[in-house]
Amino acid sequence: MRRYERIAEDIGSLIRRGVLPVGQRAPSARAISLSHGVSLGTALRAYELLVDRGFIEALPRSGYYVSSLWRATAEPIAASHPSGASRTVGAHPIVFELFDAARDAAIVPFGSPFISPDLCPLERLARCLRVRASTQMQHPNWIEDLPPGNGELREYIGTRYAHAGAAVSPDEIVLTSGGMEALYLALRAACSHGDLVAIESPAFYGCMQALEVLGLRAVEVPTHPQHGIDIGALTDIIQRKSVRACWLMPTFHNPTGALMPDANKRELARVLARHEIALIEDAAYEELYFGAHRPKPVKAYDTKGLVLHCGSFSKSLSPGYRLGWLAAGRYAQDARRIKTAVTIATCFLVQQAVALYLQRFSYERHLRVLRKTLQTRQLTMLQGVQRYLSGNCRVTRPQGGYYLWVELPEYVDAVKLYRDALASGVSVAPGPIFSVRSEFTHCIRLNCSYPWNATTESAMQTLGELVARCSKSEGVVRQTRPAAA
Ligand SMILES: Cc1ncc(COP(=O)(O)O)c(C=O)c1O
Repeated sequence: MRRYERIAEDIGSLIRRGVLPVGQRAPSARAISLSHGVSLGTALRAYELLVDRGFIEALPRSGYYVSSLWRATAEPIAASHPSGASRTVGAHPIVFELFDAARDAAIVPFGSPFISPDLCPLERLARCLRVRASTQMQHPNWIEDLPPGNGELREYIGTRYAHAGAAVSPDEIVLTSGGMEALYLALRAACSHGDLVAIESPAFYGCMQALEVLGLRAVEVPTHPQHGIDIGALTDIIQRKSVRACWLMPTFHNPTGALMPDANKRELARVLARHEIALIEDAAYEELYFGAHRPKPVKAYDTKGLVLHCGSFSKSLSPGYRLGWLAAGRYAQDARRIKTAVTIATCFLVQQAVALYLQRFSYERHLRVLRKTLQTRQLTMLQGVQRYLSGNCRVTRPQGGYYLWVELPEYVDAVKLYRDALASGVSVAPGPIFSVRSEFTHCIRLNCSYPWNATTESAMQTLGELVARCSKSEGVVRQTRPAAA
């Protein structure tokens, strides 16, 4: 542990034990520097860490104050305990309603899956689109961009894998129409009708949709909202059932934001290699990390070409361009064949425009600003959650991405909350849409990528009031809810 981390740990412990009570002014960074015999820079780094962890808040021209924010995130939400049965799956109808709500500008989009458009370099992308529309598309050489797709882009993506510690040849990359198509192609390449796929619990609803369309069955694996799937439980399932593939989000899971530690990723790759099981690694949010280093994908530990890594520019550039990719390992030829059969190719103009954007502008600089802004917005929304849902919930504090997973008291019916909130002009994503058996009935997912303003604050207040109303009818809800099976 570094010096500033040790200092932050000590002060955090004082706050946790109530020695420094909420609302009290914390010692100045200068005082910490003197009392701990460290430089002012080290003391400030310790305070930055404490702010990040929600222990203190900086008030302009006033100093640091002890915050209550850490309380909502201090008690980790427990891991899930799915039944372990194999089932056919289907998407929850509310998934489609959420897309409708996202279309309505009057609805506060806490339930939306899309990143706030103000974080996308839309003007620059549009300029690249115009340039390519008036050059390449009038003097077509689009045959070049047939599957596997634009060579320059695949080279670029290959380089980014190298930075992430994974050796991926551009030859195994297929460009796709968004990350969702990459995931679909990956499933098609690795599985056949009726196969069993191990998924997380909760899981991304898009996963359930794809399994349904392809006639695949699912088995849910216990998943921790901070560390991801339980590898012991997965191993046990693999030994008992004939699992063909896993579909997992090891880095910034949707909806919980969980990040599997590196050691678990390595172990996962080892277990899957031993049993020759393919991993569909859904990495849609992988670039959106808040820490100093990019988390490694499981793909970095793959020695047998079993990992089909699915990426997307939707969360980091713009969802509107629908550009993603699949690094398919040993399944690359199959993926390419299926891509051609399904859509012939990914839109040539989009491939060209994004390739030009990456040539002309610094993607890395854009990502640095994006990550910082998302981290700040996450903190602001956590403060909003703390203020308006306080005492009533536990919430995850992901180290990347843009979702918060909120566990409300058990008597709250998340679907009813979703409907009541929508009627008041606020969308939330209710927990049951992330489950094969409509579990997580008292959980919601919130999108924290949007700017915080009077409208979003008032939306959070509305949510708080609706949750408080549930608590008043708690007795009624308890009596009417059927006993758990
Ligand atoms: C976990 C996850 N995977 C994949 C996707 C699909 O990404 P795209 O919009 O690029 O198709 C999403 C979009 O919400 C997602 O949340």
